[in-house]
Amino acid sequence: MDKIRIHGGHELSGSIKISGSKNSALPILAATLLTREECCIRRVPDLSDTNYMVQILAHLGAHVERASGNVAVTAEKINSVAPYDVVRRMRASVCVIGPLLGRCKEATVSLPGGCVIGDRPIDLHLKGFEALGAAVRVENGDVRVFAPKLTGAIINLRGKFGPTVLGTDNVMMASVLAEGTTVIEGAAQEPEVVDLANFLIKMGAKIEGAGTRRLIIEGVKELHGAEHDIIPDRIEAGTFLVAGAIAGKGVTLKRVDPEHVQSVTNALTSCGYKIDFRADEISVSPNGATTPLEISTEPYPGFPTDMQAQMCALLSTTDGISVITENIFPQRYMHVAELKRMGANVDLEGPTAVIKGVDQLHGAPVMASDLRASAALVLAGLKAEGVTEVSRVYHIDRGYEHLDEKLRDLGAEIERVQA
Ligand code: EPZ
Repeated sequence: MDKIRIHGGHELSGSIKISGSKNSALPILAATLLTREECCIRRVPDLSDTNYMVQILAHLGAHVERASGNVAVTAEKINSVAPYDVVRRMRASVCVIGPLLGRCKEATVSLPGGCVIGDRPIDLHLKGFEALGAAVRVENGDVRVFAPKLTGAIINLRGKFGPTVLGTDNVMMASVLAEGTTVIEGAAQEPEVVDLANFLIKMGAKIEGAGTRRLIIEGVKELHGAEHDIIPDRIEAGTFLVAGAIAGKGVTLKRVDPEHVQSVTNALTSCGYKIDFRADEISVSPNGATTPLEISTEPYPGFPTDMQAQMCALLSTTDGISVITENIFPQRYMHVAELKRMGANVDLEGPTAVIKGVDQLHGAPVMASDLRASAALVLAGLKAEGVTEVSRVYHIDRGYEHLDEKLRDLGAEIERVQA
């Protein structure tokens, strides 16, 4: 297993291009199962998660060709069983259930495991499938859904932690070929859900309200092939904005959608950093004294839970007392113990982290535990004095395309070493 070694204290500057969104590419690749015609998806990031999804599509019988960021999928004849050894490595595999149910009127998919950021139930997904007329059985670690036919319904998908992103994706994909109209109340508004809806509409689906809490889907007989460019990854963009804040003297991101990262740029502005916008570019630079921050993670357009760990790293070296409250995955603090090994002063009180900024973090061997916690440890290493070694970087490779190379291009002294 590789490690990433960072020699801290080097100032970052220059510009990097943001890759296509992982969390948009995964459901859109799954959506290609809804037609027997060829779909061409461009700007698919080269990640282990997207590689897993391509493998799942191929296992289901689709013909998949990949050339750099372009993936062509033809799901002419498919089966509807995704077994454990194929889906176990990625929780987001759950988003093939909706298109399989929509296309084949049945699906058998191994249940996603939990993960370190907390329990990852799919009860809301299953509630949506049942509302459309599917019978749902959970047995032997598999979830099996089947329906003689799917009929449009009014479904509220809001759970106790708010909307569900993949749940909204899954039920939307199951409903596009249903008979009649489906209304999804409490729908997720994330840009990745909008990107999926836009792709489905290009395939011939009839969807209104994408980006709002209320989706209206009028079922159609069949969908045709389509082409699509994945939107930029707003969480990668947010991660590099924090990199520019924690260790930069002027870092510019290219190919971003400023609207998608507004909650992050607002937070950095409140901290005292200078943010400049130009078309599809955003720059972040220091701007004198910084101030502590109080933030809570919320569903989009609020501050994203996927940026909480990265912000924790930044606030660990911001003078004063900052407070982060994690409302989406209350246990999502695996990064805190590792940041404390580097000298951070963070106290956890349930879903709340109270962070007392320290003058200096110190490099140390630390362990990645999940995708965004890993990124947070790399960011802390950029700032720390000395050498930080982040192990288990396969977590990073799941969701960041060439993170170490991009940081090196900005002037970081960072290298990938064989463990
Ligand atoms: C998506 O996961 C993202 N993953 C996650 O990003 C992201 O953290 C999350 O949305 C929240 O924004 C992908 O898009 C592939 P949810 P998802 O269903 O859809 C609860 C990353 O780092 N819930 O929106 O699985 C759930 O436990 C990953 O890129 C239920 O209770 O998350 C959580 O508390 C990590 N029942 C809340 O809702 C359900 O049936 C939001 O989860 C489903 C979810």
